[in-house]
Amino acid sequence: MEDASRLAGDFLVRNAILLSGDGSPPLQGDLAVRDGRILAIGAQLQGRFGQIIDATGLALAPGFIDVHTHDDAIALEPGAMLSKLSQGVTTVVTGNCGVSLAPGLPAGLSEQVPPLDLLGGCEAFTYPRFGDYLGALRAVGPDLNVVPLVGHTVLRVRAMGTDLDRPATAAEIATMRAELQDALAAGAVGLSTGLAYPPARFAASEEIMTLVAEVARAGRLWTTHMRDERSGVVSAVAETLDIARRTGARVLISHHKCCGDAAFGLSRTTLEMIAEARRTMAVDLDVYPYTASSTVLNPVFARDSHKVTVSWSDSHPEAAGRDLHDIAADWGMSEPEALERLKPGGAIYHQMDEADLRRILAFGPSLVGSDGLPRDRRPHPRLWGSFPRVLGHYARDEGLFPLETAIAKMTGQTADALHLQDRGRLAAGHVADLVLFDPATVADAANYADPIRPSLGIDRVWIGGQLAYAGGAARSNGLGQTLSAAPAPEAVA
Ligand code: ZN
Ligand code: CU
Repeated sequence: MEDASRLAGDFLVRNAILLSGDGSPPLQGDLAVRDGRILAIGAQLQGRFGQIIDATGLALAPGFIDVHTHDDAIALEPGAMLSKLSQGVTTVVTGNCGVSLAPGLPAGLSEQVPPLDLLGGCEAFTYPRFGDYLGALRAVGPDLNVVPLVGHTVLRVRAMGTDLDRPATAAEIATMRAELQDALAAGAVGLSTGLAYPPARFAASEEIMTLVAEVARAGRLWTTHMRDERSGVVSAVAETLDIARRTGARVLISHHKCCGDAAFGLSRTTLEMIAEARRTMAVDLDVYPYTASSTVLNPVFARDSHKVTVSWSDSHPEAAGRDLHDIAADWGMSEPEALERLKPGGAIYHQMDEADLRRILAFGPSLVGSDGLPRDRRPHPRLWGSFPRVLGHYARDEGLFPLETAIAKMTGQTADALHLQDRGRLAAGHVADLVLFDPATVADAANYADPIRPSLGIDRVWIGGQLAYAGGAARSNGLGQTLSAAPAPEAVA
């Protein structure tokens, strides 16, 4: 501990409502930063500082960690991550739902395989090996910290081409496994699967088991968009927990939800299963705070929706923002026919119950992840609004849980799930990823009608002790780090 009377630092945030990230009640106090790290926290810190910021009335928290993103491509573009920065997000986990930008797609692939188009066309997947993507990230210096996963669907397409409607052969599984090892050795923090999507749906448990066992051996994380988030969600959770138990892998269930009227209420059962499993296993889950989902255009997802809005369409770009119902009426055809004609594209599916959403959000272990889709022309508002929506709408206005609980779900608990050692908490020695916000006004501004709107009440954001966002604008690019996994001990030897 430093002698508080002799502190010297780059800046001091004075008299803030300090939210530590561990869920404990807020404390009034000061926080000092030096050389990119938190130097000290306490009441009335004294010393010499390059700048003193009076934060009276404002809350200071660790920078938010968006545990579920599809930001693989925009992380390489300077200035392209304002959607996250303006929410107070300082770290993003990329490569979710089986979809990562690396390793690259086979050269002979003539057409992009949905849902890989969540990240772009074939031409976007230019990095031959996972390490090449990490090298590019390090070279450009991302605007936010990036925690990279490798996607199973990419490995599957590399091993099987477009012949995906079947279980993989032993030889194909061996190829996927070798490429997974390569990605993990390069620094992927884990493997994501997207078993609900056509190119991965036919993967047998055996294929997933083999790959997840490899992840467990390396001590990394498995994240999964489960096989079924509809009426079969209970058996999907059972499969997930079974694979994790048998392999010993840490698992993170992605964007947990119950879609379609027939699934409403099933979160009572799934959360009980997860709570029970957590007594003996490392199981986490994330959730976004909306009752509509969004992904590629697919008749299965559209089937049980109350409303479907097109978020992008390559064949009919002018359809973005319009409801499928109206498009089908204009075209004089059924909605499934119109959907086929709009492909390739994406949509927003209104298909969840608010009671399930609240139950999942309020479940102690759940983490906040946006699942935002930055490539969409008319994106789901979760891209720009998820974190302030939890803080403003759900914590403050609806009283679903205290502010410190909301913060823990986007900082400390998330850092624990990701094994990030020195982020996610206000603690001396931790990296100074910080967000200063007004707890009275913080709110999401993006909505379905107008989805590209920065949130309100986010005052300043620092990444590694450098000012990244203030006054409603980005202040500096390239402050993020690539938080790849350290090589496993056996890989070093
Ligand atoms: Zn997903
Ligand atoms: Cu996703």
